[in-house]
Amino acid sequence: MFAQRSERRGSSRRDSAAQSVGSRRPSIDPSRLVPMDKVAAIGGSSHFNVVFIGAGNIMFGSDEGPWNHSFRFEHKLGPRLKVVALIDPAIERATAVLQKKCESFVISAYQDTRVFKTFEDFVRNMSPHDKPRAIIVGSPPMFRGSLQAGRDIELQILKHFPGVAMFIEKPITTGPEGEISDGFKIAKMIQDSHTTCSVGYMLRYLKAVQMMKQIINDNNLTVMSTIARYACAYESIAKPDWWDKSKSAGPIIEQGTHFCDLSRYFGGEVDIDTVQAHSLEWDENAGLLTKIAIDESKILPENRIPRVTAAVWKYDSGAVGSFTHLVALQGHNYSCEFEVYADGYSLKLVNPYVQPVLYIRKPGDDNETTMRFADDDPFFSEVSNLIDVIEDIDEDAAEAQILSSYEDAVRTYQFTWAIRKATERARAAKIKNQASAEA
Ligand SMILES: NC(=O)c1ccc[n+]([C@@H]2O[C@H](COP(=O)([O-])OP(=O)(O)OC[C@H]3O[C@@H](n4cnc5c(N)ncnc54)[C@H](O)[C@@H]3O)[C@@H](O)[C@H]2O)c1
Repeated sequence: MFAQRSERRGSSRRDSAAQSVGSRRPSIDPSRLVPMDKVAAIGGSSHFNVVFIGAGNIMFGSDEGPWNHSFRFEHKLGPRLKVVALIDPAIERATAVLQKKCESFVISAYQDTRVFKTFEDFVRNMSPHDKPRAIIVGSPPMFRGSLQAGRDIELQILKHFPGVAMFIEKPITTGPEGEISDGFKIAKMIQDSHTTCSVGYMLRYLKAVQMMKQIINDNNLTVMSTIARYACAYESIAKPDWWDKSKSAGPIIEQGTHFCDLSRYFGGEVDIDTVQAHSLEWDENAGLLTKIAIDESKILPENRIPRVTAAVWKYDSGAVGSFTHLVALQGHNYSCEFEVYADGYSLKLVNPYVQPVLYIRKPGDDNETTMRFADDDPFFSEVSNLIDVIEDIDEDAAEAQILSSYEDAVRTYQFTWAIRKATERARAAKIKNQASAEA
């Protein structure tokens, strides 16, 4: 088995994800990623205090997708879970989700939860009894990932709760491109303080993804190319901010980021200077969409998102990557595929969000073998691994791992900005050429 083994316990394992950035990335034996309903909540009687920041879709679920962190924490920790605080400026929303929880069988985790508008309010009013073991950040990305007051939740956590584990949703931020360096500074602070930190690139925890890693590692393969395609079902995206580049930073940085991250997970570091990309914009003929769920006319024309983004780049290894993101499908389900090629091999992951299927072609057989991964829940595996790392309970050599460190996630963020900038450069050049042709 290829799962990485740590020689020492404690911080050596916590740091493993960060250390492997730029080299061989951390991975988990896929047989250890078991469905949520096959895992008993971890034992013990001690309470596990958690603070949730953000009372929205990622934390409490929505019709738009399978995400719902609170549900996974409940399953992982069972009666040990104590959500000591829920922080959200939308007090009514926070109170409403808590009310629902308190009307269900998970009441013991939420009956003493206090709602606060801000993190500072929580810090000022908490009792020592409320000290969290993990702080889960699921607020909008514009409020994190920077060194600026009000958008620096990671620094606030490090300051008030040194040593307490963090989980940060993706993308690490959606701030201006010029603040990417803030992300690297935050990553260093997290690393230097040996704080356990996991970032929400949950596709890395898919059993199928770990199977791909296992095949690559077991056969000592070098990745030659990654090919990614992500077509979202735009009709079911009803959040106005998502359609507004000034709020979401655009669909590559906000959504395509998952596949940019997977690309890096397999291809290694991207040579940022090689990134080239084109976009189909909302005001071009082919970009007309007929089923947008929000009123796009309320968004300033310059902030409307592209319908297609197609990028190519070189990895530091020499391998070539490509990614096409499409805002084109209607209905509910996304259509997403991710391929990895190496000498003699193709590994094609299809439908990772709904029902992952892996098609494997190996030397000696021109036919593909198909592997299906029913009931796999990467959101659960992500939470489960984080808690096992925090508790440091796993005596097995193939230990729990955090697969996406903060620094790794900053690099994905930097890469997604490079794609967006490349499309903007290409578009500006096209407009300039057209103008000079007309003159
Ligand atoms: N991994 C995934 O597949 C996945 C899926 C959905 C969302 N996400 C990510 O989760 C994050 C949140 O998305 P969402 O869909 O839950 O958004 P949402 O709008 O449904 O919820 C966000 C909540 O945060 C609250 N909020 C605003 N400012 C805040 C602040 N300063 N402090 C605390 N709370 C604040 C809002 O009032 C809102 O209730 C985003 O980064 C998004 O990209 C990830």
